[in-house]
Amino acid sequence: MTNGQTIAFLNGDLMPLDAARISPMDRGFLFGDGIYEVIPSYNGRFVGFSRHMDRLREGLTAIGIANPHCDTDWQHILKDLIQQNGAGDLAIYLQVTRGVVEKRAHRFPDDVTPTVFAYTFAIEAPLAGDPNASPCFHVTTGKDQRWKRCHIKSIALLGNVLHMMEGVDNGADEILLFNDDDELTEAAACNVFTVNNGVIATPILDQQKLAGITRNMLVDMIRGETNWPLSEARLSREHLLAADEVWLTSSTKEIAPVITVDGHVVGDGRPGPVWSKAQALFDQHRFHY
Ligand code: PDD
Repeated sequence: MTNGQTIAFLNGDLMPLDAARISPMDRGFLFGDGIYEVIPSYNGRFVGFSRHMDRLREGLTAIGIANPHCDTDWQHILKDLIQQNGAGDLAIYLQVTRGVVEKRAHRFPDDVTPTVFAYTFAIEAPLAGDPNASPCFHVTTGKDQRWKRCHIKSIALLGNVLHMMEGVDNGADEILLFNDDDELTEAAACNVFTVNNGVIATPILDQQKLAGITRNMLVDMIRGETNWPLSEARLSREHLLAADEVWLTSSTKEIAPVITVDGHVVGDGRPGPVWSKAQALFDQHRFHY
């Protein structure tokens, strides 16, 4: 579907995306003052819907915006949007900003109505862990220079955008970031997992990382369905460079194998056997977690 035919949701109404209009006095535009979610759905079925609603609610609370809808209403609105767009393999981009103001001022305005915008875009159907069919990622590394509240899914993503371009400018698809103590945080738009000698690991959550829904679902699936060794810990650069496998996770990529880090080949340069098992596990349980 082209953008011209995509149906968007704006403040209670469905309309063609290219007919949607937002005021330049919206605080999302002026300050990046808002929260977003990206929610995947396959054949009209959402993945991790209640987790996305929980994170949306927490993000809005963290920045003092009243949630404009209850979870049931969100479900109706977003299901309807998916149906209007053909109910194929789609992700919803949803953002809630503080709303439109008369005067630009940093402090929160009184009596402002949040702006709600959502539209859909096509995503690739998951691949059930087939190493010959999976897109593979080349990543570079860099120092995490974002703000200290990366656990909030803020629409203000300039720090992430600049990090992504640092990766792109180095010929990579993504960038893995390290904090001031040289511990791995996450990527510009994904969480990260490693496999070292059969042990799966992912950075322990704190305010320097987004609590990714895909990350958390995968952790819960591994703990709930398998006896694979898994650790949530502080991970060093040496740990990353010694890894047999590295994966990126996000709602649009699910679990994506990384095959080079700073030009060094990871494992044998192909998606690894633990990745295959993990993506197959995700395939089996994505609608139940
Ligand atoms: N990005 N970390 C960051 C910084 C992210 O932007 C994302 C997702 C993730 C993974 O979170 P989840 O599994 O909930 O998608 C981690 C989305 C997809 C984006 O900005 O487009």
